[in-house]
Amino acid sequence: MNGLPMAVPAPGLPARVRIHEVGARDGLQNEKTAVPTEVKAEFIRRLAAAGLRTVEATSFVHPKWVPQLADAEQLYPQLADLAGAGVHLPVLVPNERGLDRALALGADRIAVFGSATETFAARNLNRTVAESLAMFEPVVARAKEGGAHVRGYLSMCFGDPWEGPVPVAQVVGTAKALLDLGCDELSLGDTIGTGTPGHVRSLLTALNGAGVATDRIGVHFHDTYGQALANTLAALEHGVATVDASAGGLGGCPYAKSATGNLATEDLVWMLDGLGIETGVDLAALTATSVWMAERLGRPSPSRTVRALSHKE
Ligand code: HMG
Ligand code: MG
Repeated sequence: MNGLPMAVPAPGLPARVRIHEVGARDGLQNEKTAVPTEVKAEFIRRLAAAGLRTVEATSFVHPKWVPQLADAEQLYPQLADLAGAGVHLPVLVPNERGLDRALALGADRIAVFGSATETFAARNLNRTVAESLAMFEPVVARAKEGGAHVRGYLSMCFGDPWEGPVPVAQVVGTAKALLDLGCDELSLGDTIGTGTPGHVRSLLTALNGAGVATDRIGVHFHDTYGQALANTLAALEHGVATVDASAGGLGGCPYAKSATGNLATEDLVWMLDGLGIETGVDLAALTATSVWMAERLGRPSPSRTVRALSHKE
């Protein structure tokens, strides 16, 4: 075993996938212990060195809401050389206050984060869905005016822990509203991991039917029910070529009970390598990074691939 799968391409899949790495933000926002800023910077540096070209760095949210990322002002400037070397370092921004903070540090890729359901909008943003879209409107407009790239996350696209099933039409309506604000891309979040492949196909088809082109769509799966890779494959078969993942499978969401780990980047890369799909990621370097981070966090990575590749007899 050389630590890589045998590459056997399957027809009809994208030749290349852009991995949007969320471990340093989505992963660390959920950690109980405070991770020192220097460790976060080193983590991001190692992720970039492993070949990831989009590494979400942090969030400019209210520090009381997400204390784990309260050091955004200290962290972001430490990454200036990476930005200069062509690594994209998007940051989450919920409102104009957050945008001001991000722009003051020179951020050029931001993400707003909406919800397909009212309950999560209230819990995550203290707003209704309509109020949160109104909150994002000037954020997106100002970011675009300044030449920034804007991603629109949409959470609870496949189910909500409080509201249960979420109708596809409801998701499409909010997704369209987010894109109509001017977002460049949309990331469909299965925040609690309840989605299944047919559901993924149906949502993507409905979005296309509403005029949303597949090349503006990314997918953000959680592995709570073991469906994340199956859902990813369904999305790839549909033509999606942007996939969010979290190194080592870190993360969840502090405002969504039952949101456990994101799709682990290593598990994703194993599958994409096996399908002969280019990602630019060095799986061994990435795995070593997650092992290193797991040591810092004091518990093993939940990623199957990390466990398999780092297993010592
Ligand atoms: P609020 O309490 O309604 O805030 O929270 P407000 O607008 O009423 O303002 C209250 C005070 O907070 C004001 O200060 C503001 O200046 C300050 P005061 O005038 O009273 O002294 N304030 C801020 N300070 C610093 N930075 C800011 C900021 N905004 C206001 N940005 C708010 C509303 C949106 C701020 C709050 O709800 C919040 O920060 N929420 C963020 C929650 C979060 O980050 N959740 C995790 C990310 S989403 C996710 O993980 C899902 C995803 O991964 C995809 C998936 O899996 O589904 C993306
Ligand atoms: Mg997530």
